[in-house]
Amino acid sequence: MSDLVVVATVMQTPDRETLEVLHDAAVVVRDGAITAVLGPADPGRAEALAAATEVVAIEPPAVLVPGLVDVHLHASQWPQLGSALDIPLEEWLFQHTFPLEARFADVDFAVGVWESLVSGLLSEGTTTAVMFATVHEEATVELARVCGDLGLRADVGRVAMDLPDGTPEWYRDASPSASVEASHRSIQAIEALGGGRSLVRPIITPRFVPSCTDAALTGLGELAEATGVSIQTHCSESDWAHGYVLDRFGLSDARVLDRFGLLREHTVVAHGVQLGTDDLDLLRERGAGIAHCPLSNAYFADSALPVREALDRGVGIGLGSDVAGGFDASMLRQCATAVTSSRMLESGVDPAVAPTSRGRADARIDTTAAFWMATLGGAELLGLPVGLLEPGRRFDAVVLDPTSPGSSITEWPDLDDDARRFERFVRLAGRADVARVWVDGRAVVGDHATLQSR
Ligand code: GUN
Ligand code: FE
Repeated sequence: MSDLVVVATVMQTPDRETLEVLHDAAVVVRDGAITAVLGPADPGRAEALAAATEVVAIEPPAVLVPGLVDVHLHASQWPQLGSALDIPLEEWLFQHTFPLEARFADVDFAVGVWESLVSGLLSEGTTTAVMFATVHEEATVELARVCGDLGLRADVGRVAMDLPDGTPEWYRDASPSASVEASHRSIQAIEALGGGRSLVRPIITPRFVPSCTDAALTGLGELAEATGVSIQTHCSESDWAHGYVLDRFGLSDARVLDRFGLLREHTVVAHGVQLGTDDLDLLRERGAGIAHCPLSNAYFADSALPVREALDRGVGIGLGSDVAGGFDASMLRQCATAVTSSRMLESGVDPAVAPTSRGRADARIDTTAAFWMATLGGAELLGLPVGLLEPGRRFDAVVLDPTSPGSSITEWPDLDDDARRFERFVRLAGRADVARVWVDGRAVVGDHATLQSR
């Protein structure tokens, strides 16, 4: 007996070098968990189909892929998506971002943004999102509630920021203890949501070292130790952010986070573009990892993350949209951009520099590695049993259908093989191609979706 069997061509990446294609696979789902993935000749398949409450047949050329995992975005920056990217990070925060985030003191405004964002993310095929909310407790807990209600798996963090020199007086926590206490209360409130909202976890969220006092960083590290709740922050994002931490502590950003007990298992550090090899090794030793945000990095980071090196050193890596430092919420676009930026890093970009010294050798990644980061890589970094359609994991999955109205993909049956079709899905599929989405076994986009019937 199962709730659901989805029969489809599955495309997924069990490791960063392998594209696995399962033709005519029957994915059997019970109580939101995958209990079996059966090929056409596998025993038990006919019985599984006969016993299912619902059978969904996805006809080629549509494919079923694991749900996309966005390990870093700013939910509160959704209204500024696509705008205001022409000044450096440290000016952008004060001119555009803090004023917008301050508006989330108004809970009605916040809920309107949260509903628009969460339905937008699901429509792009994002099934897990790790999010910064704002400093406001109420708005933060409302974000967690909306994620649970609309069916997005999410880690939701109240932003802690209390350093008078690094934050405006009208948008900061009142003191280090107020910062830690508000973070603690938001954790308890999110955990208390319960019910269908167990998809949502709290996450401790010091914005970054330049906006936090030593006392707040200490308290947040202790809070993580006491509660076991994981952590997200920004680390060595740009020349300025990296240099600021070196100046204040005489240590790298990663070492400082570690000193405050903030580099722990599943800690997500966003960007990490300026991390040195020692820092990368420290992240790996701690079980922390990087949210690679290639699109945002093109605007704010002053350089591209050597993502291949970080992968080769065994650091956990997922992809992040960094909405709204990144102007596109689509995780498939982040995959394509991750490939593009790695290619530009490898070749170099300044034609005035000789080709032999223009770039960085062996920096490129391919679409398989990028898709792995956007699915299993991100899931492993977060410690979530998603990212791959295999027994024992939760059923978070997306149907990409190039026959959908408005699809950005033209099929070339004479030319297309599996590898080519996968590459084209990753590079070209847009929102119109996202035909169905399930999170934890629940249909949230497409036929029978509770999202669309709301
Ligand atoms: N560093 C601190 N805050 C932010 C933010 O909101 N966006 C980005 N990209 N970097 C940050
Ligand atoms: Fe960010």
